[in-house]
Amino acid sequence: MLIQRPAGIASSEITDEQVYLNRRQFIRGAAGAAVGVATGGFALGGGRVAFAEGQDAIPNVTPGPFGTDETLNSFDDITSYNNYYEFGLDKRDPSRNAHTLTTEPWTIKVDGEVAKPADYHLEDLLKGVTLEERVYRLRCVEAWSMVVPWVGFPLSTLIDRFEPTGDAGFVEFTTAMRPSEMPGVRRQVLDWPYVEGLRLDEAMHPLTILVVGLYGKTLLNQNGAPIRLMMPWKYGFKSAKSIVQMRFTREQPRTAWNTSAPQEYGFYANVNPTVDHPRWSQKSERRIGRFFRQETLMFNGYGDQVASLYDGMDLRRFY
Ligand code: MTE
Repeated sequence: MLIQRPAGIASSEITDEQVYLNRRQFIRGAAGAAVGVATGGFALGGGRVAFAEGQDAIPNVTPGPFGTDETLNSFDDITSYNNYYEFGLDKRDPSRNAHTLTTEPWTIKVDGEVAKPADYHLEDLLKGVTLEERVYRLRCVEAWSMVVPWVGFPLSTLIDRFEPTGDAGFVEFTTAMRPSEMPGVRRQVLDWPYVEGLRLDEAMHPLTILVVGLYGKTLLNQNGAPIRLMMPWKYGFKSAKSIVQMRFTREQPRTAWNTSAPQEYGFYANVNPTVDHPRWSQKSERRIGRFFRQETLMFNGYGDQVASLYDGMDLRRFY
């Protein structure tokens, strides 16, 4: 992965948190009223509400488990300091360029080792899903981190519906690849499309979520609209954005970063401060918006939940 210079992000965390709390109260009130407003984006949970910025608020979001009370990064940090190489390599490029991505309609192809393969419309997949707020730490392999209030739901709820066969051992996630909408894919930085993968038990783990929003609103394109993964114990590159296909496989899938630089990016890519990246240390991280670096925790602090997934594995070898 290319190393990007810090973009000198100004932190306005305290103000944003207050705004956020006000917004949450607003969403709660609005959700009950289910105000219909004709704005872009798809309707979630049966109601649709617009903020001044033009994004949709997501009604009926319930607080989810595994939260942290660490200070949240501001909405501005989370939406303007991004990795989404399909829109450029600079941290600011996705927020400048990703508006060109068309996210409606959106279809996800499900195939491979499942009883119910199909091209599913996103609205159909989201019907009946309970959306939760999951406040997770996000640790990028580049050694920066954030705390993000995602809105999403366990990936396992969809996987159960697709009914994987007994031969399904892994899930491969392919993301959108649209040269006419994505200026970054004209450069061969990676072998496009961006593909990621998980072992089936990792995909079924309750911490693993599909994300459709953050800070109570539908995702902006730079964060992976309309739907992306989030596994908080793994380096951020595993959390593929704008997913268009899920394939259930017997074999471990090839993944974009692992294929392009296998000596630097493993398949598992669990956050591990004892295994340095060949070009930099992973012992500490720079929390965006803070001055001092902080220690990186094994499994990004989620070891109690996930360590048992890797019992008997040499975590240095299976990085
Ligand atoms: N997904 C796609 N399709 N393309 C990307 O370049 N970057 C990854 C991941 N998902 C990436 C992607 C990396 S390196 C990180 S750290 C996270 O997205 C960043 O997510 P964020 O921009 O929402 O913080």
